[in-house]
Amino acid sequence: MKKAFVRSYGCQMNAYDAARMADVLGQQGYAATDSVEEADVVILNTCHIREKAAEKVYSELGRLRVLKGERKRAGQDTRIVVAGCVAQAEGAEILARAPAVDVVVGPQSYHRLPLLLDQSRAGRVVDTEFPAEDKFDHLPTRRSKGVSAFLTVQEGCDKFCAFCVVPYTRGAEVSRSVASVVAEARKLAEAGVRELTLIGQNVNAYHGESLTGGAAATLTDLIRAVAAIPGIARIRYTTSHPNDMGDDLIRAHAEIPGLMPYLHLPVQSGSDRVLAAMNRKHTGDQYRRLIERIRAARPDIALSSDFIVGFPGETDAEFEETMRLVAEIGFQSAFSFKYSPRPGTPAAAREDAVPESVKSERLAALQGLLDRQRHAYQNAAAGQVTDVLVEKTGRHPGQVAGKTPHMLAVQFDAPASTIGSIVAVRIVEAGTNSLFGEMAPQIAAA
Ligand code: SAH
Ligand code: SF4
Ligand code: F3S
Repeated sequence: MKKAFVRSYGCQMNAYDAARMADVLGQQGYAATDSVEEADVVILNTCHIREKAAEKVYSELGRLRVLKGERKRAGQDTRIVVAGCVAQAEGAEILARAPAVDVVVGPQSYHRLPLLLDQSRAGRVVDTEFPAEDKFDHLPTRRSKGVSAFLTVQEGCDKFCAFCVVPYTRGAEVSRSVASVVAEARKLAEAGVRELTLIGQNVNAYHGESLTGGAAATLTDLIRAVAAIPGIARIRYTTSHPNDMGDDLIRAHAEIPGLMPYLHLPVQSGSDRVLAAMNRKHTGDQYRRLIERIRAARPDIALSSDFIVGFPGETDAEFEETMRLVAEIGFQSAFSFKYSPRPGTPAAAREDAVPESVKSERLAALQGLLDRQRHAYQNAAAGQVTDVLVEKTGRHPGQVAGKTPHMLAVQFDAPASTIGSIVAVRIVEAGTNSLFGEMAPQIAAA
């Protein structure tokens, strides 16, 4: 049997795409493998968001070139595919820089992989079109099982933050129809999925065709439709933009029991001047007021965010505004990055770059604060009894692992037969990355 190896970098949407590419190849008779040495097709699903992410791909391709040569000497063919956002951004340049690559395919064309692999036997191919047909109509049924699954509902971005490549690599905002999302969600539920994370680059800007074909459905409408599917117990969504956080979506956090009390809402900076230069189109205080409204609807909501330090021109005082915002709001978790200039974005042309050493200092200070907040949040969970959706076996024999409604990872002793169910767990101890608990059967949940 032919084998395919897929490695994904970057965001959850890329992870979703990687799984779908494996589905496409599965339909062609390829088995998935974790061992690159035995793969007949190797796919790198790349990320272009920061320079480090993009450059990693080329070192990986260097290693693959050696592997391809060794396999060839052993009489085995290896097709090497570069997919994802570096493929979209760099296209044929990748062929020039990496001689081992056979196929370059963008995020909107990977349903054509079988055709592209065939064509590559006659010569290297590049497909970075934004095709008229919808890839979702051409993808096979998902094979991926598991308890928690991602589901892409919206792609692309019209926001054009000054630092970001996504509007260029993923194109304009497009939403799938409610019918198409619900059909995929139903199949996942039938395969045992209990938790769905609806994903999009700007998921709360979702405006897909409604079931009646009438006025566009909002993300709230979509969440309600998915929540009604038998078997689906938990719903999450990511990533949201503060400016698209409508009143209906905020209310949904109070009204829809299956919608989990966790929200990833990137703010990037606490300085109004930097936010304006980033083209985020909101101020720090607008973000604070938004958080107040969300907390009024769902007081226990856990918040997460993204931050960039060292955006061009950012002063010490402006960075301190970010620290102040973090201290005031309190996040359960967060991602923070040093600004990385990206080709083709407006900010990359600026000449007031912040020195690398200053970026590093600011990142360390910010991450220190965010880490303290994360630990405080985890420690506060000790002693509580909470619902855990069991997702998989744990690190040690006899253990299982799952997540709380607030996205905290928990390990505890329980039989593997609990996988897929929601059990009540008493949190005994908070570790660095995970909580440890014990089953609290007297109040077992659904
Ligand atoms: N659509 C989402 C996430 C986009 S990318 C949003 O609007 O928030 C994920 C994160 O990467 C961003 O939130 C941002 O914090 C970070 N990021 C994007 N471009 C970057 C760059 N050029 N340098 C450093 N971090 C960047
Ligand atoms: Fe990038 Fe901004 Fe769009 Fe998010 S909203 S994907 S950061 S341009
Ligand atoms: Fe990276 Fe593309 Fe996602 S640039 S973060 S893989 S949308």
